[in-house]
Amino acid sequence: MARILITSALPYINGIKHLGNLVGSQLPSDVFARYCRARGDEVMYICATDEHGTPAEIAAAKAGKPVAQYCAEMHEVQADLARGFRLSFDYFGRSSSARNRAITQHLAGRLADNGLIEEVSEKQVYSRADGRFLPDRYIEGTCPNCGYDSARGDQCENCTKQLDPTDLIDPRSAISGSTDLEVRETRHLFLRQSKMRDRLNAWIDQKSDWPILTTSIARKWLNDGDGLQDRGITRDLDWGVPVKRGDRDWPGMEGKVFYVWFDAPIEYIGATAEWADANGLDDSAWERWWRTDKGAEDVRYVQFMGKDNVPFHTLSFPATIMGSNEPWKLVDYIKSFNYLNYDGGQFSTSKGRGVFMDQALDILPSDYWRWWLLSHVPENSDSEFTWENFQASINKDLADVLGNFVSRVTKFCRARFGEAVPEGGGYGPAEAAVIAEISRRVAAYEGHMAAIEIRKATAELRAIWVVGNEYLQTAAPWAVFKSDPEAAGAIVRFALNLIRLYAVLSEPFIPDASATILSALHLQSAEWPDDVEAALSTLPAGHAFDVPEVLFAKITDDARTEMQARFAGTQTAKA
Ligand code: 2FM
Ligand code: ZN
Repeated sequence: MARILITSALPYINGIKHLGNLVGSQLPSDVFARYCRARGDEVMYICATDEHGTPAEIAAAKAGKPVAQYCAEMHEVQADLARGFRLSFDYFGRSSSARNRAITQHLAGRLADNGLIEEVSEKQVYSRADGRFLPDRYIEGTCPNCGYDSARGDQCENCTKQLDPTDLIDPRSAISGSTDLEVRETRHLFLRQSKMRDRLNAWIDQKSDWPILTTSIARKWLNDGDGLQDRGITRDLDWGVPVKRGDRDWPGMEGKVFYVWFDAPIEYIGATAEWADANGLDDSAWERWWRTDKGAEDVRYVQFMGKDNVPFHTLSFPATIMGSNEPWKLVDYIKSFNYLNYDGGQFSTSKGRGVFMDQALDILPSDYWRWWLLSHVPENSDSEFTWENFQASINKDLADVLGNFVSRVTKFCRARFGEAVPEGGGYGPAEAAVIAEISRRVAAYEGHMAAIEIRKATAELRAIWVVGNEYLQTAAPWAVFKSDPEAAGAIVRFALNLIRLYAVLSEPFIPDASATILSALHLQSAEWPDDVEAALSTLPAGHAFDVPEVLFAKITDDARTEMQARFAGTQTAKA
């Protein structure tokens, strides 16, 4: 049994996430976690809200709430939506937790002990109009690298380059819009990641199996000259992890906090410790996932994230872990994603453009969204959500192919044989051909899942559903029944077993439909089909079942037009 540690990039606390955010890390990581569990692996699947820094402060100010209260409330909102989308985290933590604070301060202390932290007098942008420094997202301007005109002070979301506020061309305050800015000196801690260049390069060099998207971004910033320049890891903000050296004060750093991107990835560890606390377990329970001296040497650690997060996970976070010279677990595989666009433009939180997680669940059940998003996940290039495409996929894949198969087989059985698996007859060449084809396709599906090729896996899964439909069409039990009811019974028995198989294979993608099917089949659990032939004789003659409710309702043209109109304009910006 393998042990797999899976983390999803932490969603910022600053409001409800849109479907582009969801598909970029949380949803694909959930599929992978569910798949690994189904295969019998021991899984620790971690996510949390990313609660510090300027995104949190700005959102709380907009909502007119104290930032701690805002974060507590928004964490519950996000946790609730995660449950709505059936995200199966083992723990959904908070980067503002005491656990994260202590581990962050500890790691900073280790880095300082190892000569990797430098105290420098830094030039920071100060806004006279706002009467304060403008770190990170408090400042916007034109990216010096690509010319994008809404780059933020910490990173350009267009070209992924990490920036300093003083890099921006034509900077303006994100608080007031004021351009009455000046550069002032303030003292900060810098992580000397440039000293780690060789170690990081050697580490990335070993990762020839990583997605090109991940390694190309990592190499670009590693070798670009200033991609790995030393970066400030402290800020003049009130909200965040107070700067300490382990549990000691850090003279000169009073009143400052760590930069949000310093403590956020550390919360992957922090949240696992929160999980242990929440379950009344001691430290060894979480350390066996994170400390290679305490059991984590056989853990495979996989991270999921959007491409804008890659520099932080391939440069600064590994620099923190390596620089500590302690036996923390380093990531083994980074799965990164391109962007999902919305109907001819970008999803945008600030502009309220696109469909947000709460709105999506108001319209349709989570399986519909999961299926569309996962079968169109932006793996190899950006992809685009359109309502036409959404309608077509749901109606074809889920309603016509899977839903229809389940409904035809169970209803025909009820009408002719009653609600129990029919007896009599035997399997012949047609069934053998189906077993052969599905065995081949299940192996391909498993290969894609092991490689975390989500789109290919959905295509294979759909093809497996299609095999059942084609079999049913050719075998035509409704015609056979007239002359040979026993033979028709065998066809139906085989088809009912296919339905069970589909429920098991589909669970990572559409867990609710899978659960509905299994419960209609009066099954508590379902083993992974290591042997397809054996799996297709699991349901014996006489086994009782119920005809399930309609699994997937088709989206009508009217409904699509109505949703399209409702989401055409800019929605009220999310808090
Ligand atoms: O880009 C984002 O949404 C960040 N909140 C991701 C953080 S991932 C991790 F490092 F915490
Ligand atoms: Zn740029």
